[in-house]
Amino acid sequence: MTMGERRFYDCGVSEKLLYTAFLLLMGVGYLMALVYLYTSFEGYDGEPGVSIEDIVYNYYGNRSGTRLEAAIRGPMAGYIQLDDRHVIVEWLKSGALENDYSTVIRPILEKTCLNCHTPASGLNIPDLSSYEGIKKVAEVDTGESLHTLMKLSHIHLFGVGLVALGIGLVFRLAATATWFKATLMVLPFAVIFVDILAWFLTKWDPFYAYTVVTAGGLLGLAWAGQMLISLYQLWFLRAPKEEKNSAS
Ligand code: HEC
Repeated sequence: MTMGERRFYDCGVSEKLLYTAFLLLMGVGYLMALVYLYTSFEGYDGEPGVSIEDIVYNYYGNRSGTRLEAAIRGPMAGYIQLDDRHVIVEWLKSGALENDYSTVIRPILEKTCLNCHTPASGLNIPDLSSYEGIKKVAEVDTGESLHTLMKLSHIHLFGVGLVALGIGLVFRLAATATWFKATLMVLPFAVIFVDILAWFLTKWDPFYAYTVVTAGGLLGLAWAGQMLISLYQLWFLRAPKEEKNSAS
């Protein structure tokens, strides 16, 4: 003998109000998160709006070059010979390590660059006469640091997990097909895991920026589905007519 599962129409008014208030607050929270994401990612690539490049810049960085490389290929190209330029570019590509600065790089800079690029010149331009100085223009932008990503991900995993639990607990009272209900309930947990994994993967390969976006979109859909169905059924779904309850 099975009793029918509890549904929204079995709840009293105060319980309905509790669920409604919770869902609305979470909805506002989700919209806030979207606005926050939009404003903090927008414009990394110098274009208005959020694009896949903005996501890549945030996690992967802009590794196409450094200010130093841009300078010796561009405005400073006239002060350096081709093979010297090649040596500096290789040094930058291999991580601009301090060991090689004084033995390999500085002798090249001494030929012409240091006529101008020392603090003594009085010009407000990068100081290339010390490793500390050159580092500022020799750093490749590799995006958000691993440390920051770890901080953000544990906050996200706990926070999003609890919100998903809360929304799912309310949604379990909805009258829908079981497979559909189970999918919408479990999706946020799976997707937030994939999303956060993809932050780290994007640091390694910018291709995963697409995963970040897809996972974020699926999370939004799963939550929107649970919230809207719950809100609708909370206030508009009537109990089915008393069935002649003879079945087991
Ligand atoms: C005659 C003086 C002079 C010499 C020689 C010179 N520079 Fe410069 N450099 C400047 C000035 C002035 C600026 C700032 C204006 C500009 O960015 O064009 C500058 C800017 C730079 C910048 C900063 C670019 C940025 O992103 O802001 C770098 C890096 C640089 N130079 C590297 C070099 C290197 C490497 C050499 C030698 C191969 C060199 N410069 C030789 C005068 C010089």
